[in-house]
Amino acid sequence: MNTNIFRSMSYGVYVTATMDKDRPTGCITNSIMQITSSPATIAVSVNHDNYTNSCMKASGMFSFSILSEQSDPGLIGRFGFQSGKDVDKFDGIDYEMAAGMPVVKDSCGYVVCKIIDTMETATHTVFLGEVVEAEVYEGAADAMTYAYYHKVVKGKSPKNAPTYLPEEDEAEGAAAQKEEEKPAEEKKTGRWVCQVCGYVYEGDELPPDFKCPICKQGADKFKKVQ
Ligand SMILES: Cc1cc2nc3c(=O)[nH]c(=O)nc-3n(C[C@H](O)[C@H](O)[C@H](O)COP(=O)(O)O)c2cc1C
Repeated sequence: MNTNIFRSMSYGVYVTATMDKDRPTGCITNSIMQITSSPATIAVSVNHDNYTNSCMKASGMFSFSILSEQSDPGLIGRFGFQSGKDVDKFDGIDYEMAAGMPVVKDSCGYVVCKIIDTMETATHTVFLGEVVEAEVYEGAADAMTYAYYHKVVKGKSPKNAPTYLPEEDEAEGAAAQKEEEKPAEEKKTGRWVCQVCGYVYEGDELPPDFKCPICKQGADKFKKVQ
């Protein structure tokens, strides 16, 4: 089985949000698709271990904000690499409420759904939602695709993402190995990997005040790879 073919599948990047009683919370998802147009229904796959999963089940509703290529990558760090169990994810985020659900303004727009069914897999719940509200934020850049997130933003996906490929980490190791094998004059000067989100910095030296553009961690969280 060649699971590399999964890399050819297309997705967007979303902040899927809900209410934790009276507190907004949510996580990054890429596994969203429209199932029907009338009535409009949407499916999203959320890991059992994600705090967002239990909050969605308790509230019976969710929203998703569609991130654009210009959305702050810090949103992905906050919502995709931290848990609402530990942090108040919407603290300091520019958001508004739509049909009772929080939605992120730094996006192309949003959809709000009422959960009408769920399906359990070994690791994830597939939520089926009927759309109750939707809006376009005029003037936003193109929607961010999952491929753009990987190729341009140079981000990674954590293990809870349904599309996580262990090979991603192996590919990183192989790329570093290839670099190492090149003659000295062809070598890139240095590669530092963020130990929180996997972002790779390439340069002569990692500036001591460097902040990861995705998860906002400092230089101390970066490890030089050979
Ligand atoms: C690019 C990207 C895509 C992701 N896609 C999904 C997804 O589709 N489903 C999922 O359950 N988790 C996904 N995740 C992982 C969650 O966002 C992550 O585990 C998050 O920390 C969970 O937060 P929570 O515990 O507050 O719910 C993704 C993360 C990233 C960075």
